[in-house]
Amino acid sequence: MTKPQAYIKDLNEFVGKEVTLKGWLYNKRSSGKVKFLILRDGTGLLQCIVFKGNVSEEVFETADSLAQEASFEVTGLVKEEKRAPGGFELDATDVKLIAASVDYPISPKDHGIEFLMDHRHLWLRSKRQAAILRIRHRIIKAMRDFFDDRGFTLFDPPILTPNACEGTSTLFETEYFDLGSAFLTQSGQLYAEAGALALGKVYTFGPTFRAEKSKTRRHLTEFWMVEPEMAFFDLDDDMDLAEEFLEYVIQTVITERKSDLDDLERDTTLLEQVKRPFPRITYEEAVKILHEKGVDFKYGDDFGAADETIISDHFQKPVMVHRWPAETKAFYMKRDENNPNLALGVDVLAPEGYGEVIGGSQREDNLDLLIERIKEHNLPQEYFEWYLDLRRYGSVPHSGFGLGLERTVAWICGLDHIRETIPFPRMIYRNTP
Ligand code: 4AD
Ligand code: MG
Repeated sequence: MTKPQAYIKDLNEFVGKEVTLKGWLYNKRSSGKVKFLILRDGTGLLQCIVFKGNVSEEVFETADSLAQEASFEVTGLVKEEKRAPGGFELDATDVKLIAASVDYPISPKDHGIEFLMDHRHLWLRSKRQAAILRIRHRIIKAMRDFFDDRGFTLFDPPILTPNACEGTSTLFETEYFDLGSAFLTQSGQLYAEAGALALGKVYTFGPTFRAEKSKTRRHLTEFWMVEPEMAFFDLDDDMDLAEEFLEYVIQTVITERKSDLDDLERDTTLLEQVKRPFPRITYEEAVKILHEKGVDFKYGDDFGAADETIISDHFQKPVMVHRWPAETKAFYMKRDENNPNLALGVDVLAPEGYGEVIGGSQREDNLDLLIERIKEHNLPQEYFEWYLDLRRYGSVPHSGFGLGLERTVAWICGLDHIRETIPFPRMIYRNTP
């Protein structure tokens, strides 16, 4: 007879029944005639009690011999146990070794971060890392649901591209057959604009690359970005969407993944307050706040991490900073008709020191002005001819933004560093494992 195979997360359906579970040994304790095996199956942890009197000598010995991260199968009776993590326990009747694990390198003692990063492929098995990855998955689902439910079409831009999107200093370059250089995409935006003029409202969601020489806790060289792009949206419409989007994602994830956030000991008080409306201030007003707080900041510079923290601490909510000095921003941004020195861009700064999570703008839709910008930025116009066509054939006002997935994961999970937000982070000094 085959026994029903269960997963730890579903044990409430099996109370009083005998089940078989498969997984790995997370931890083990013994006390005389009893072995307490903590089983990990990817969906949770479960204490399995192997009592000498209930099992054969051989099974008891197998239980005794299991080492950390050995894979095994356990059969037993599911019991409710309020004090146990997860609320259940298993009274084991059988334990079978699947494969041994010899000298597992990550022990419960404290390891240095570099050691853990070198063993990232194993570190992912820890309770904390699994919680982060489940939250990451839920964030991605919430983002996709948001756009899918609002008439957006998913639009996949290329990753190998012939030109820069976000400035030429952070491009990864590779040889591309007889066609010269290709670059790993910094953003899907320019292609998304073609998509918006074809389909109305689109979003891209994929890996993007920046050869940043930054070693900060917010920078990856490979990260995932979600980028909506909408025809007939101006900057205000863009900000309305960004704020609705962030509220939806945060509120959904903190409700749906509460147990994982509890495992991370995340205090969600400020996340619960991420509700519309968010404060909207101009760049100039943000600079005033810095000056009032005694920061020696020069109008026209971009904000550093410390500046962003001061501005967002002032509000304790995500804050939207719009209308930036044009020199600080990319070539494609439209200028403010009331002041052509200002670009119609917006950065959304997250609270609690997480900094810029969204960058967006209204796009330049005038052909001649866009050509001028391409020249000013010394970009090779021949590679942008297709992009200029979008202004030659039925140009319309349009806007969009990009949200960095990993910065959002760090913020929601309350992590100190972006390296734990993605299974295998790529940073200036690390591309292994
Ligand atoms: O502000 P950025 O550079 O904007 C763009 O790429 C636009 N083309 C987006 C658009 O309008 N469609 O990047 C957008 C977001 C940032 O706010 C940040 O969250 C994230 O991408 N980001 C990074 N995340 C991790 N590591 C890096 N090196 C990042 N660079 C940007
Ligand atoms: Mg930006």
